[in-house]
Amino acid sequence: MKYTAFVTEEIDDNLYTSSFKELDLDKLHVNDILIKLDWSSLNYKDALSAKGHKGITRKYPHTPGVDAAGIVVKSNTNKIKVGDKVVVTGHDLGMNTNGGFSEYVSVPIDWVIELPEDLTLKESMIFGTAGITAAICINELYKHDITPEKGKILVTGATGGVGSISVAILNKLGFEVIASTGKLDKSDFLKSIGAREIIARDEVFDTTGKPLLSRKWAGAIDTVGGNTLSTVFRSTDYHGIVCVLGMVESTDLNINIFPFLQRGVSLIGIDSAERGLEIKKELWKKLSKDWKPDCLNSMAKEVSLLDIKPEIDLILKGGQIGKTLIDCSIKH
Ligand SMILES: NC(=O)c1ccc[n+]([C@@H]2O[C@H](COP(=O)([O-])OP(=O)(O)OC[C@H]3O[C@@H](n4cnc5c(N)ncnc54)[C@H](OP(=O)(O)O)[C@@H]3O)[C@@H](O)[C@H]2O)c1
Repeated sequence: MKYTAFVTEEIDDNLYTSSFKELDLDKLHVNDILIKLDWSSLNYKDALSAKGHKGITRKYPHTPGVDAAGIVVKSNTNKIKVGDKVVVTGHDLGMNTNGGFSEYVSVPIDWVIELPEDLTLKESMIFGTAGITAAICINELYKHDITPEKGKILVTGATGGVGSISVAILNKLGFEVIASTGKLDKSDFLKSIGAREIIARDEVFDTTGKPLLSRKWAGAIDTVGGNTLSTVFRSTDYHGIVCVLGMVESTDLNINIFPFLQRGVSLIGIDSAERGLEIKKELWKKLSKDWKPDCLNSMAKEVSLLDIKPEIDLILKGGQIGKTLIDCSIKH
């Protein structure tokens, strides 16, 4: 049987091209579980993989897509049965295992989460990796005693995938959110998902180099890195935490030790892909219940898998607003 997948190939040294291909399902299905996908979603990492990035995907041809949700059609274990609705985010999916930009994925059992009962497959992919990453960050805030009473929370790259979902969940949980953005013209969107204050990206880009800046927030979720992260760190209040997860501005981090020593601020590294299945299950349960933003279903633009190419270009230019949900069902 054949299936359709988005495939990126290396046609010359460092020269890549992508197209839709009809492939053999038997060759894909080499793992425990075969899933027929309803939905996937677009992440910054997927776009890098789709353009050819050996730091993410070592070997091409390859199908990107770190997120996948659908129905099990083959299973070699009793834990997950044919007909179950399931979600996969991260692990090696879309990196060196063919990913969710496809009609099917084949994955090991220990990457698979049964869809929580209060979530639809579509909602699970509006969250996707962005949602589980935001949930890990917010869990860290609580673990470090940063509750809504402690003060404001800054989210950088606020219109992007992780940024927008973080804003929406934090608002749902009663936090006062400051959204930093390069798209002030999208302030209405940011307000609609719960940002109380919206600031321009430049306001979180210090050029004085001072070791400490005035204290502006109790905690932060930074999706950007570079000088933005350095500025966020130096502006965080006593005993605050900064969740470090992204690098769209830069992978460099130029900081001094004063925020650690004089304010007790911590930097918390966030890695969503390899978080254990148990913690992911716990967070998916929260996302399906008290942490689910009321605005979730209005936060995503829906595109067919066959129309994914312009979306890949857009996210690489920093143009994503909310989430891009990929409809993987193709009419043959
Ligand atoms: N560690 C993890 O587990 C993990 C998980 C998921 C994602 N990530 C990383 O997190 C980052 C964001 O991922 P995403 O999927 O949310 O991407 P995204 O949807 O493209 O969001 C990134 C946002 O950052 C802002 N931005 C873009 N270029 C910028 C620049 N040069 N300087 C400052 N801000 C800029 C833009 O928002 P505004 O216009 O609103 O400023 C953009 O929408 C990526 O680096 C990704 O690899 C890490």
